[in-house]
Amino acid sequence: MIEISKLTKTYHTNGHAVRALNGIDLHIGTGMFGLLGPNGAGKTTLMRILAGIVNPNSGEVHIDNHALATEAGKQAIKSMLGYLPQELGLYPELTAAQFVDYMAILKGMDDPQTRHSNVERVLDMVGLGQSAGRKLKGFSGGMKRRVGIAQALVNNPKLLIVDEPTAGLDPEERIRFRNLLVRLAADRTVILSTHIVEDIAQTCRNIAVLAHGEVIFQGSPAELIQSAVGHVWTLIDPDSTEKPNHDLTVVSMLHLAEGIQYRLVGASADTYPAAQAAPPGLEDGYVWLMKNAGYAIDTV
Ligand SMILES: Nc1ncnc2c1ncn2[C@@H]1O[C@H](COP(=O)(O)OP(=O)(O)OP(=O)(O)O)[C@@H](O)[C@H]1O
Ligand SMILES: [Mg+2]
Repeated sequence: MIEISKLTKTYHTNGHAVRALNGIDLHIGTGMFGLLGPNGAGKTTLMRILAGIVNPNSGEVHIDNHALATEAGKQAIKSMLGYLPQELGLYPELTAAQFVDYMAILKGMDDPQTRHSNVERVLDMVGLGQSAGRKLKGFSGGMKRRVGIAQALVNNPKLLIVDEPTAGLDPEERIRFRNLLVRLAADRTVILSTHIVEDIAQTCRNIAVLAHGEVIFQGSPAELIQSAVGHVWTLIDPDSTEKPNHDLTVVSMLHLAEGIQYRLVGASADTYPAAQAAPPGLEDGYVWLMKNAGYAIDTV
């Protein structure tokens, strides 16, 4: 449904250029799609381009055969799109219903009756029906994030783009929010960006990993896990003195009665005969991918 080819974007600030996207090729189908990558990878830039807020320098985007580069295509895409930015400014003195109604007006929903019924519907969808009349200043982080989703949904979009929606949420709110996105993805495309590998493992059929403005992986979470087979070990250090060498990345450490247990990812653990091969998880796959792509990850 979304075809992205050779997309580039360079920002110019104070006389120097930052290349945020460096030739992105991506195919995004229906359901939930995860965009993973470290700080500064270009996730927000890509989402802002899809949302029509920022123009790329070159390359093409087609959504349902509408070209983003044409004025008619851009309008068609805007009408089928909902966007939750990484930083959404809320007005603390407005109630949830007033805020979503205001956002709907900005989206050009002129008919008050349709608008009001839509506002009510989306607040119910995100579980805020009971709190519609409360002021936003009293909302928790998770509730605010759900207001953000409600405003993105108010025009009933076929494509929902959410940028780091789970950052700063406690585990319960995060799981709730994740489940909400999965429900929403049943009848629309949802593109989700995150740092949290686990959020994507649980929810996305397809993912892409961005680093330094380039796509370094595209496929399923299972494929990313599979790529790390033979590159993950656990090693117990009885004296708790020696830290495993630099060719191996320490993914986690656990204090056991026998000593510290390290979980290691790397090309080879030959220098540690006591290392035991372990089945990889998605986080191991991510670390192995980043190492292979030449991004040193300093974890200890
Ligand atoms: N408005 C801007 N002006 C100048 N440089 C920018 C601007 N927005 C982003 N950049 C730069 O472009 C690169 C990509 O930034 P972007 O925000 O797209 O990354 P990100 O993957 O969303 O990062 P994060 O995980 O921190 O949100 C970074 O080097 C960033 O400093
Ligand atoms: Mg970002």
